[in-house]
Amino acid sequence: MATSSLHSLNTFALKASAREIVAVRKLEQLHACLPLSQPYLVLGGGSNMLFCGDFDGTVIHNQMRDIEYWQDEQNHYFNVAGGENWHQFVMSCVNKGIGGLENLALIPGSVGAAPVQNIGAYGVELADVCESVKAIDLRTGKEVSFDRQQCQFAYRESIFKTNRDYFIHHVVFKLPKQWQAVLSYGELKAWSRELNSQPSPLAIANEVIKVRNNKLPDPNDIPNVGSFFKNPVVESSHAKQLKLSYPEMPQYEVGHSVKLAAGWLIDQLGLKGHQVGGAAVHERQALVLVNKNKATSRDVMDLAQHIIEQVDLKYGVKLEPEVNIIGHQGYGTLKEFAGE
Ligand code: EPU
Repeated sequence: MATSSLHSLNTFALKASAREIVAVRKLEQLHACLPLSQPYLVLGGGSNMLFCGDFDGTVIHNQMRDIEYWQDEQNHYFNVAGGENWHQFVMSCVNKGIGGLENLALIPGSVGAAPVQNIGAYGVELADVCESVKAIDLRTGKEVSFDRQQCQFAYRESIFKTNRDYFIHHVVFKLPKQWQAVLSYGELKAWSRELNSQPSPLAIANEVIKVRNNKLPDPNDIPNVGSFFKNPVVESSHAKQLKLSYPEMPQYEVGHSVKLAAGWLIDQLGLKGHQVGGAAVHERQALVLVNKNKATSRDVMDLAQHIIEQVDLKYGVKLEPEVNIIGHQGYGTLKEFAGE
């Protein structure tokens, strides 16, 4: 059977193929191929996917484009199709002077993928601006709508991560006209202190772009999927113990637990630049793994496993991938596929 290449559909630029790729520009095209046989996979920008080999099923590629705008006295609303590019949407808002999304500038990927992992950066998460998510349940072909509560957003988590059967066709954003800049995050805080007046959404977006460009590799130049691991959350007793041994360790309280900076942990192990085959730890941000030179998925998995082992050995902390791990039959874990 003929297969379709996923090479240009994953920003890690790993060689992999799918049995079939279906481009969805209109919902009718999706309905025309339902019911789907297993396995299937919904793909947006491919900026958070690690293909650990060929995918033995159908990839549904969301290419729906349209943006609808309305307002009431208090808020701006946007109903945005899932195939729209995230960064372009952010810039279209800040260029009109509409604030709320500026901290999330330059995050790679599509609008439809944004709620899945509840994208976040510099003190703002998608959960803060998302009014609702409209999807098709691929098991039944029925339309389903999720309000913010029903999305079950948490740190890099949502209901769409636990249940992979939804094709997100639109996301509705609610951006208050009484906009409040979020400048609490380290680098933005330092920058805003130097200013004489309140920065505009566009000025903040431009600063975020500058900060990101300084640290994070552009997937078009050096293929990568952003943060490869999640920042681990540990019990406060464990965090206290670690602080005694490593007083410099960044720690952030979240409820009764403590979030650690995975990038710092990896960096302290001297792993920046560490290479396995063609895959390497980025020189400027240890949380990002890059495809430096024709990496295979095996190289990436071996590098990731090495980092997980070293971090566990030194700090007793278990890192978990933030990236989605895809095997022949769909979603899985690094452990599952690393041993294959
Ligand atoms: N750090 C190091 N060395 C490194 C990387 C980080 O010492 O190589 C330290 C930093 O100095 C800082 C702390 O670790 O004290 C946190 O680093 P940073 O501010 O760069 O953020 P992060 O925790 O590494 C998270 C998100 C990013 C997001 C930034 C900014 C996750 C998994 N990652 O990274 O999101 O852009 O905060 O908000 O939560 C992504 O998800 O793909 C992503 C890039």
